[in-house]
Amino acid sequence: MAPSLSEHAIAILHANDRGGYTVPTKGLYPYQWNWDSAFAALGFAAFDRNRAWREIETLFEGQWDDGMVPHIIFRNHDPSYFPGPDVWQSDTVPQTSGHSQPPVAATVMRWLVETGDRDDDKRAHDLFERLLAWHDWWHRYRDPDGTGLVGIVHPWESGRDNCPDWDIGMNRITVPDDLGEYHRRDTDWVDPSERPTKITYDRYLTIVKFGRECGWDHEKITRDGPFLMADPCVQFVLMRADRDLLKLAERFEHGRAMKMIREWIARDFDGAQAMWSDEARGFVAVDLRNGGYKSTAITNASMLAWYAGAGTREQRDEMADQARAIFDICQFAFPSWDPRHDSFESRRYWRGPVWNMMNWMIASGLDMNGHRDLAMRLRHDCRKLVAQSGFFEYFDPLTGEGLGGPEFTWTAAIHLALEHEFGAAAAA
Ligand code: GLC
Repeated sequence: MAPSLSEHAIAILHANDRGGYTVPTKGLYPYQWNWDSAFAALGFAAFDRNRAWREIETLFEGQWDDGMVPHIIFRNHDPSYFPGPDVWQSDTVPQTSGHSQPPVAATVMRWLVETGDRDDDKRAHDLFERLLAWHDWWHRYRDPDGTGLVGIVHPWESGRDNCPDWDIGMNRITVPDDLGEYHRRDTDWVDPSERPTKITYDRYLTIVKFGRECGWDHEKITRDGPFLMADPCVQFVLMRADRDLLKLAERFEHGRAMKMIREWIARDFDGAQAMWSDEARGFVAVDLRNGGYKSTAITNASMLAWYAGAGTREQRDEMADQARAIFDICQFAFPSWDPRHDSFESRRYWRGPVWNMMNWMIASGLDMNGHRDLAMRLRHDCRKLVAQSGFFEYFDPLTGEGLGGPEFTWTAAIHLALEHEFGAAAAA
C-alpha cells in the first residue's frame, strides 16, 4: 500500500535530518536555515518532541556574541552551495552567514511549552536567555533609533528572497567593479526561469561584500550599508514573536525580560503603521534608505497583519477585502505577490508562488480574528497542493504545480502541523 501523506511527510523529515538539524532539501540547500528549523520543529513535534527541541537547540548553536541568530549555519563545507562560508567569512564557530531571518522560534517554543510537560518547560527555560538576546538584537541593531519598525539589510534577511518588494532598494545598488567572478549553484538545481536574474545576484553579493569588509559590524551595516528596507514579514513575525516571548518571560517570572519586551511591544504597533499604504490598501515593504518609497502590491507577508496583531480595525477590514479578491483569482492561495499586479509571475520564486508555511501563519492569525472562512480556505489549499503535487518548496497559485526543491522540510512539517491541528499559540 502506498504510504499516506503523513507517513511521507515524516519520511521527509527523517531523510533531511543531518543529526540534530535538518536541511531544507537535499542538494539545493545543504545547510541549516533559521526559520526552516523553527517550522521543522513544529513538524517533529507531531511524532518526536525531543527531536523538535533538538532542532531549536542546534539553531541557537549558531548564535553570535551580539545575539544574532544567523540565517544559515554552515556545519560542513558543501561546494554545491553558493555563497558558502568562504564568501561570508563570519569568523565564528560554527561558520554562518552574516545576517538573520524572520524570528519564528519564540512562537514555536511557546506553543511547545503550552502543549507540553516539564521537559518542554525546562528546555525552553534553558534557551530563554539566548532567545531574549536574539529579539534584543533585532530591536537594538535593526531599529537603532527605537522607532518600532525594524529594517532588513539584505533581501535574504526577509526570507522572501526574490520578492519584487526589494526591487526598490535593490535597483539603487551599484555593483562595484571589483565584485569578482563567481559561479552560482542554485541554477544547477532549479530551472533558471524560477530563480533570480544575474544582476539581482550581483547586487545580493554587493551587500554581502559590504558586510564582510566591515567585519559584520551590524551597527554600521544598518546605518551605512547599501540596503535597508522594512519588511512586513520580519516586522509581523517579530511582533508576534515578541508577544510569545513575553508569555514565556511571565511563565519563568523573568522581571527584567518582561520589562524589556513590554517596551518593544509598546513601540511595535506604531512602528508598523509606517508600512501602511493607501495606494496598495495594505501593509507593504518600505525603503528606509531612499525617501521612504513603498512597494506597490499586497503580498502573503502583508497578510500576516492579523498574526502580528497589527493594524486598526479599518485597516484589517480593508485587507480582508483584498484577501477575498485575491482568493477569487487564484486556484490556490495565498500568492507571494498580487496577481492583479504587472510584476506577478506565477512560477518565479517569491514573485507569485504559494508557500505553505506562510499560509500556516496567515491562517492562524485569521482564525484569531474571526475570519475562519479565510483561514479554512488557506489550510484546505495547503493540503490540496501537497496531495496534488507532492511536498515541493513552493507552488504555482494558478495551477498548483510544485516548484523549486522537492521533498522539502517545511512543506512536510506544515502538513503534519495541519494534520494535528497545531495552531500557533493564542496571541495575548
Ligand atoms: C530560500 C528561501 C528562504 C529559505 C531558504 C531555505 O532561500 O527564500 O526563505 O529559508 O530558501 O529553505
